[in-house]
Amino acid sequence: MRRPMIAANWKMNKTMAEARSFIDAFRGLVRDVTDVDIVLAPPSTLLCKLRKETDSSNIMLASQNMFYEDKGAFTGEISADMVKDFAEYVIIGHSERRQYFGESDDVINKKVNKALEKGLKVIFCMGETDEEREEGREKEVIAKQIKNGLDGVGSLDNVVVAYEPIWAIGTGKTATPEIAQEVHLFIRNEIRKIFGNETAEKIRILYGGSVKPGNAAELMEQPDIDGGLVGGASLDAEGFAQIVKFKG
Ligand code: PGA
Repeated sequence: MRRPMIAANWKMNKTMAEARSFIDAFRGLVRDVTDVDIVLAPPSTLLCKLRKETDSSNIMLASQNMFYEDKGAFTGEISADMVKDFAEYVIIGHSERRQYFGESDDVINKKVNKALEKGLKVIFCMGETDEEREEGREKEVIAKQIKNGLDGVGSLDNVVVAYEPIWAIGTGKTATPEIAQEVHLFIRNEIRKIFGNETAEKIRILYGGSVKPGNAAELMEQPDIDGGLVGGASLDAEGFAQIVKFKG
């Protein structure tokens, strides 16, 4: 059985004061949750503060990004070692990084390898655009993102995959559970081809794209959907706690 993970991607949202009021409410709301991995990915300005607020709780932290070099003259970037001071996970390959910051499969691949080498766990994102889906190319695109993004990776023990169709991110247009399940199974089978059966059965594949309290349960019910990566709906402590408690 794969243990579900529900991860919050706050993107470029929340000041210190806003994060404090979120965590004060959220910690209590999810205190009794023992059967789901809970991850918060705040902006890196909040990682230190949230580390203190979540120590000895059931909440883990993720960075939304990192750079693949160890250190040096890379203004504005943070390294894997810096992330490791505060967080267990790092999100790599999010479509907004690909789209707005020009991250190619090659850059993403370097980041994945560096993060794993440094002992971080990776939430590796992939997904097709509206246009690619309309042209019927979504599987081809995803297969390429998997192959290129995970090139040179020996083991997926510390990798979680997130399928995030770009047309569903922040649009309110969620993939139906059936559409999402079909792609999740495809991803699992692509991973099976490269990494073998045991890895494919073990790896968690999260769905992301307009997950909300009202649709979380039906998505998570699908056999190959092992959790969610939640953007907009993770900004509200009560709403996000409801998603974490999707099992009821
Ligand atoms: P959304 O974002 O839940 O706001 O659609 C998901 C994501 O981009 O991780």
